[in-house]
Amino acid sequence: MPIQGLLPTLVCLTIWTLWSLLIPALSHPHHSLCRLTQKIALCSDSEISSVPRDLPDNIEELHLTHNHIQMLQDDSLSRYISLRTLSCAKNRLETVGSKLFHNSPHLESLNLAANQLHVGYQETSRALLTLSRLKVLDLSENQLTNDIASVLLQNMTSLEYLNLSRNLLLRLDESSFSDLHQLRELDLQRNMLFEIVDAFDHLHKLQRLNLAFNHLACLMDFDMTQLVVLNASHNNIEWFIANQDLQETFQLETLDLTNNNLLFFPFLPIQSRLRNLHLSQNRVSFYEHLADTAVYPNWTNSVQFFNLRGNVTNVTAQLWDESLHGDISSLDLLDLSGNQVGYFPQGFISKMPSLVRLRMQTNCLEVLNLTLEKLPGTLYELDVSNNRLTELHADQGSLSELGKLSYLNLSQNDLQSLPPRLFSSLTSISSVDISFNRIGICPLEEWGGNRDGGNQSDCVVWRNIISLRQLHLSGCNLGRLPSSAFTGTPLTHLELSNNPELNIGPRSIVGLSRTLHHLGLGNTGLIDFDFSPFHHLKSLNISRNSLTQLPASLQRLELRLLDLRDNKLNTVPSDQANTLALKLQTVFLNGNTFNCCQLDWYRTFERAKTVNIIDLSDISCQDLTKNTHKVVFLDPLMCGGSEEESVYWYILLFIVPVLCLVGISVIFLLTFRPRLLPKAIKNKCRRPTSY
Ligand SMILES: *[C@@H]1O[C@H](CO)[C@@H](O)[C@H](O)[C@H]1NC(C)=O
Ligand SMILES: *[C@@H]1O[C@H](CO)[C@@H](O)[C@H](O)[C@H]1NC(C)=O
Ligand SMILES: *[C@@H]1O[C@H](CO)[C@@H](O)[C@H](O)[C@H]1NC(C)=O
Ligand SMILES: *[C@@H]1O[C@H](CO)[C@@H](O)[C@H](O)[C@H]1NC(C)=O
Ligand SMILES: *[C@@H]1O[C@H](CO)[C@@H](O)[C@H](O)[C@H]1NC(C)=O
Ligand SMILES: *[C@@H]1O[C@H](CO)[C@@H](O)[C@H](O)[C@H]1NC(C)=O
Ligand SMILES: *[C@@H]1O[C@H](CO)[C@@H](O)[C@H](O)[C@H]1NC(C)=O
Ligand SMILES: *[C@@H]1O[C@H](CO)[C@@H](O)[C@H](O)[C@H]1NC(C)=O
Ligand SMILES: *[C@@H]1O[C@H](CO)[C@@H](O)[C@H](O)[C@H]1NC(C)=O
Ligand SMILES: *[C@@H]1O[C@H](CO)[C@@H](O)[C@H](O)[C@H]1NC(C)=O
Repeated sequence: MPIQGLLPTLVCLTIWTLWSLLIPALSHPHHSLCRLTQKIALCSDSEISSVPRDLPDNIEELHLTHNHIQMLQDDSLSRYISLRTLSCAKNRLETVGSKLFHNSPHLESLNLAANQLHVGYQETSRALLTLSRLKVLDLSENQLTNDIASVLLQNMTSLEYLNLSRNLLLRLDESSFSDLHQLRELDLQRNMLFEIVDAFDHLHKLQRLNLAFNHLACLMDFDMTQLVVLNASHNNIEWFIANQDLQETFQLETLDLTNNNLLFFPFLPIQSRLRNLHLSQNRVSFYEHLADTAVYPNWTNSVQFFNLRGNVTNVTAQLWDESLHGDISSLDLLDLSGNQVGYFPQGFISKMPSLVRLRMQTNCLEVLNLTLEKLPGTLYELDVSNNRLTELHADQGSLSELGKLSYLNLSQNDLQSLPPRLFSSLTSISSVDISFNRIGICPLEEWGGNRDGGNQSDCVVWRNIISLRQLHLSGCNLGRLPSSAFTGTPLTHLELSNNPELNIGPRSIVGLSRTLHHLGLGNTGLIDFDFSPFHHLKSLNISRNSLTQLPASLQRLELRLLDLRDNKLNTVPSDQANTLALKLQTVFLNGNTFNCCQLDWYRTFERAKTVNIIDLSDISCQDLTKNTHKVVFLDPLMCGGSEEESVYWYILLFIVPVLCLVGISVIFLLTFRPRLLPKAIKNKCRRPTSY
């Protein structure tokens, strides 16, 4: 190498050496792969396979998540005696050296999630034994079995939080957590637990327990009075029976039994503070009608539970007596959606005087008598959609007591009549959905006093409901809207879709022009409509209407969302496309019969980076020969817009059959006139030959 070339390299090297000597003197020394902020060393995602040894001695937090560490050697933390938090999740960790923590007296939080600790668990357990101050331990996703877990957890008497989710636990018993006296939170979700026997007996401080996504078949004799949150969703639970003999008040506030196989409403503690009860997606029904001992004298009241060791427990619960379902007096939320409830037992609703949300969608309710049920005045949300309701009764008194009811969903039932002033009587009502019932809109002349109150009518009054903002009347078999149908009701959101016979009279919704933000007119047989008075409209759905051209008045709106799917649009004229592109953010256009040679609108939208065509990849167009093309893959030169080129296409179309015909004739000639061939060749060669 010539000396001239070496010189700059030398200079560079010297500068680099000086730099690396100087920097540590100027600031904290730090490992090139780690970032330091105060006493926290962040070495995650650094592809390292051992603990960096050149970090400042006084670091308190060390994050090594997502690296290639396979073993934590005995001495790798010896310098960092102030360490409080160590995270080594998502490595390939198999073993933690048994002396690793000898110099870590302050370690309080250890995250070893998503590793392979099942491999070297013996040594790892000896390491954990030395952590006398550890409070937080995450061992999730480590393929731990019951036996490995109990070895790893012995004598962890200071632990307050433990995560064992995503392991291979099958069964827990009294030996599993016997030393964890301080434990407050335990996450066991996503294991394969099918049995738990006395495993939590020693956990007197446990407040949060997650058992979701396991294979438990029952939770019976539940007596954990100290527990605040119990999540047992996504199991196969058929029975939840709390110990009915305990007079103590249970601290339980949240019970999640979503996605199980419950047939009975859970047998809750006699006294509790339960606020949130999640029971959706079960098979819960009420059986009050079976409680009659005169009719069913021999029906049992006890349930037997066998465990793996063959012990039998008899639990006696008043199975058929719905008045004994425990304390639900503090409930805020009752979610029974997706069950088989056909009626509420007598007095059931009134046992929940502070209920705020009642979710009953997708059940089998047939009648709702608000006079009888006495829903509490605290109720804010009532969802009885997708049931079999044919009747809804209410008197003025019971309605005016629902002074906080804000959300009411009655959609997808078989209602054909309602008290006409139902919604006018609900003083806080803000969102109503009665879609997919056959309920009309009362015309002006019919809202006189004599149709008030408990009487039923096939139409509802929507005028002068000053709290109402959102109204869904999709699929209500609406015909001509009465004039001034919504006067005095400041709707911002009106859904009228799926009323194919809808006829919006000129004065029916004009009163909403100052408030309306969303208007849904999909599948309403819309032909044209003057949208220009609706200055505040931001979202418009006019899909499925066989429109051949866009209403001209759209241009004057400040629309952000426009659904034009499934119409018969050939194109969007340039002036409309240009104005729309300036304002639109979201547009749906699939299912139209666009002309491939009139796609200027598409290029306009594409150029305006702010427009998001949601179904872009599905939009197709037809060329002159009625062939369908995906707009995104279309060759822009295909049409080019000029006449000559379309002529060129006709020529091409003409040439192909002609060529085929010629080809077929040649083959025909060659096959059926074999003697022509030699003659032809002879002629061509002009040479006498004998055959
Ligand atoms: C756990 O602690 C108990 C009592 O402090 C002690 O007798 C036992 O040897 C410890 N177990 C282990 C494995 O260190
Ligand atoms: C337990 O760990 C799992 C998986 O690492 C995580 O999804 C879950 O949120 C953790 N649980 C708690 C209570 O932090
Ligand atoms: C129960 O756990 C599941 C799974 O982790 C979670 O989706 C659900 O939100 C939890 N329930 C409650 C009430 O927190
Ligand atoms: C109930 O049990 C008694 C005794 O086993 C029997 O005589 C009676 O017929 C049973 N009643 C019904 C309704 O099954
Ligand atoms: C279960 O049975 C075993 C032996 O049959 C007995 O030692 C144990 O105490 C029983 N446990 C319960 C909770 O009854
Ligand atoms: C449980 O109840 C059944 C029927 O009532 C009875 O035969 C059995 O002896 C009871 N078993 C226990 C352990 O109490
Ligand atoms: C609704 O319940 C009230 C109170 O029990 C009752 O008087 C009324 O007849 C019921 N209405 C219907 C239609 O069943
Ligand atoms: C009403 O309930 C139906 C069915 O459960 C649901 O699809 C719809 O979104 C709900 N309406 C509103 C306004 O939330
Ligand atoms: C319904 O209204 C009619 C008069 O319009 C009245 O005669 C009848 O008693 C009312 N029925 C009920 C149940 O209030
Ligand atoms: C527009 O209305 C149609 C018909 O009801 C519906 O299927 C579609 O989902 C609506 N579009 C949007 C964006 O909600």
